[in-house]
Amino acid sequence: MKVFLRTYGCQMNKLDSSLVVNSFMQAGFELTEQVGETDVVLINTCSVRNHAEERVISLLGHLKHIKKTKPEIIVAVFGCMAQRLKDDLLSHDAVNIVCGPLQIPELVNLVNNAVGRVKKQSDVSGDIRRKPSQGQLQDLDDFEYSYDSAENHLPAQAYVRVMHGCDKFCSYCVVPYVRGPEVSRAPEKIIAQIKKLADAGVKQITLLGQTVNSYRYNSFSFAELLCEVSKNNGIEWIKFVTCYPKDFDERIFKAMADLPKVCRYLHIPAQSGSGKILKAMNRQYTCAEYLDLLQKARQIVPDIAIAGDFIVGFPGETEEDFQKSVELVQKAQYKNCFIFKYSPRPGTRADEKKADDVPMEVKKQRNMKLLAVQEEISRNFNKSFIGRAVKVLVEGVSKKAHLDKADKEEHPQLIGRTSIDYIVVFNGPQSLAGRFADVRITRTSALTLFGELAAS
Ligand code: SAH
Ligand code: SF4
Ligand code: F3S
Repeated sequence: MKVFLRTYGCQMNKLDSSLVVNSFMQAGFELTEQVGETDVVLINTCSVRNHAEERVISLLGHLKHIKKTKPEIIVAVFGCMAQRLKDDLLSHDAVNIVCGPLQIPELVNLVNNAVGRVKKQSDVSGDIRRKPSQGQLQDLDDFEYSYDSAENHLPAQAYVRVMHGCDKFCSYCVVPYVRGPEVSRAPEKIIAQIKKLADAGVKQITLLGQTVNSYRYNSFSFAELLCEVSKNNGIEWIKFVTCYPKDFDERIFKAMADLPKVCRYLHIPAQSGSGKILKAMNRQYTCAEYLDLLQKARQIVPDIAIAGDFIVGFPGETEEDFQKSVELVQKAQYKNCFIFKYSPRPGTRADEKKADDVPMEVKKQRNMKLLAVQEEISRNFNKSFIGRAVKVLVEGVSKKAHLDKADKEEHPQLIGRTSIDYIVVFNGPQSLAGRFADVRITRTSALTLFGELAAS
């Protein structure tokens, strides 16, 4: 039987999708990229903004149409939106199976049951804020260990989850209501999993958690975890996302400075520069504290690259509040920034307590303006790379042809990333995918560095 997969959302979902696909392969399914020839459609969903959910609803509309002529196709919706909407999603004409993010080890069984028999099935957490049982956590751990693979994602790279869920309850955010409580995985399990991946050829590990710096297992801290992972001989680069700006253990910065494998890249969202908005967002830090933290990071790790997230148009955000976000972007000197228009999420405190009172047109303008401020910073800073050689881990052939004369070159255009997460585009042999290469930078834009393979 053939299975088609579509994934929306963050790195957590990319990881879950890889695990799910591997579990289907082991159960004898075959992966297809053609929805027209598939027996099973798996959709891994995200609820973080309304737009992410709309895309799934539109795909389901398309599948409903296909099912008119091929009613035997099994459609399984899993991930965050499945957990949020539960039976409402199950009642959609196109949907056979709804499966929450904590139930993914069961997905292949649900699909097998559905083939020719039980047509509608659901497995989601009844009370998502109740801590998963030891048995459930054990199942998730076993599932992650058994089905991770060096073949996933990008060559020689792998994601490894260090924590489930989130307990921060930022007032706008749906994640705590779809991923459940924060639970850190046992360090020995993480280390064993990384050893297995490294033995299979993985060179870069990205440790994943919604607030990865809050990782703590009994008294074992995230800094200690970085130190342990560093001891693996096969792993060369260790990255981690995403950090939460409060309760930041300075030893993490020291680990970044002292351990050569730990990449000097920090993704640490601010969300707003206005104290009033930060308070309404329940972010638990002030703008000054956030800036102090960046300063401390730069003091301890001088060449650190910092990325941020901002939300524009949060309820009550005035022009003055927005201006404070602009000022924060200017002061923070990010490498790059992700900017989102506030999207009210049902069940969150912001949605229950506050009207979505910033008009869409204003959100769009603020989004563009903040992006322009950041682009100017990135463009200027990136110029300093010209003439320098950077080390990249090569991902593979670039999907977009960036360079003007690409087709005249002997080799295809490759894409790679530096340890501090810069995207680098250059021509080179495809055999470099999954390997490190030195690239001399000749041209830069706000988001990308362009260059030539340096003679090795
Ligand atoms: N755990 C991570 C990522 C959370 S979701 C963290 O805390 O940093 C990724 C980003 O989406 C957030 O940083 C935030 O900027 C944005 N986001 C979350 N909820 C949103 C909402 N309701 N509307 C718009 N953007 C949102
Ligand atoms: Fe959402 Fe805040 Fe948790 Fe990040 S820290 S996942 S923004 S609740
Ligand atoms: Fe989306 Fe779930 Fe990630 S809501 S951002 S896929 S944790």
